[in-house]
Amino acid sequence: MASPQIDPGNVWVIGASSGIGRAFAEKIAGMAQNIAVSARSKDALLDMESQGRGITAFPLDITDANAVETAARDILGRFGAIDTAVLSAGAWRPLEPGDIDLESIRAGVEVNYMGAIHAISALVPIMKQQGKGHIVIVGSLSGYRGLPRTVNYGPTKAALINLAETLKLDLERFNIRITLVNPGFVDTPLTKKNDFKMPQLISADQAADYIISGMAKERFEIRFPQPFASVMGMLRNAPNALYFRMVGRMLKGRG
Ligand SMILES: NC(=O)c1ccc[n+]([C@@H]2O[C@H](COP(=O)([O-])OP(=O)(O)OC[C@H]3O[C@@H](n4cnc5c(N)ncnc54)[C@H](OP(=O)(O)O)[C@@H]3O)[C@@H](O)[C@H]2O)c1
Repeated sequence: MASPQIDPGNVWVIGASSGIGRAFAEKIAGMAQNIAVSARSKDALLDMESQGRGITAFPLDITDANAVETAARDILGRFGAIDTAVLSAGAWRPLEPGDIDLESIRAGVEVNYMGAIHAISALVPIMKQQGKGHIVIVGSLSGYRGLPRTVNYGPTKAALINLAETLKLDLERFNIRITLVNPGFVDTPLTKKNDFKMPQLISADQAADYIISGMAKERFEIRFPQPFASVMGMLRNAPNALYFRMVGRMLKGRG
């Protein structure tokens, strides 16, 4: 699938040092005016910057609200506007069933949920002042319903889905658009840790194509890949008894 052209203006991608964020940032170089790329891995960001193509590195830790706010101000000073922000920073590691690992759960909340909140808190005043803006929140299909071994991840993604809906309702009046991206399984450093067979695994490049294509169609929710995303959508609305029976059967099949 080739990406359609979009006109995202000055773009800020957080979680851009690898995986989906990096593939997206590299793919929209040439469509965007400027691209600010953020994550903790400074070297990876500088490597992207060295490609030219309008990419500039702004390293940060998204769990640090002050660092995110400072980066937002620096990017605004440098480019004059932040038109589109893509929040792709994420943390996950598989846990054993019943392992309520506080450190890992806290990391999930701090990076996946509070990280997005830090970015949104820095962006909304800027976008209100601009009279426009577009915030793209990367959630996950795993946020639709409870899944095994995801106490440190799925609930944070469920929170992001709810947050995106809330923000859409609150921010439309300020001409700030919200898009929710819900990927299935994508082959990135995040999923390399998975010790199970991932159905319909796609590449980060394909994920970036899906996102760009959904942005071009101005969708609120961009979910992929099909048909996996539609099956998850159906399970989202399935009655509890049917849902738990089906997930139980899938797990048994896995042995
Ligand atoms: N891969 C999948 O199957 C899949 C499925 C559904 C949803 N998602 C979501 O897609 C998003 C991207 O994930 P990915 O699969 O592309 O994984 P990835 O390659 O591991 O990318 C995660 C990105 O988040 C950054 N990050 C992590 N902690 C951070 C922190 N404290 N501060 C700033 N940046 C931080 C990482 O950079 P540094 O380590 O350099 O900071 C990296 O750039 C995540 O939100 C993930 O939950 C992924």
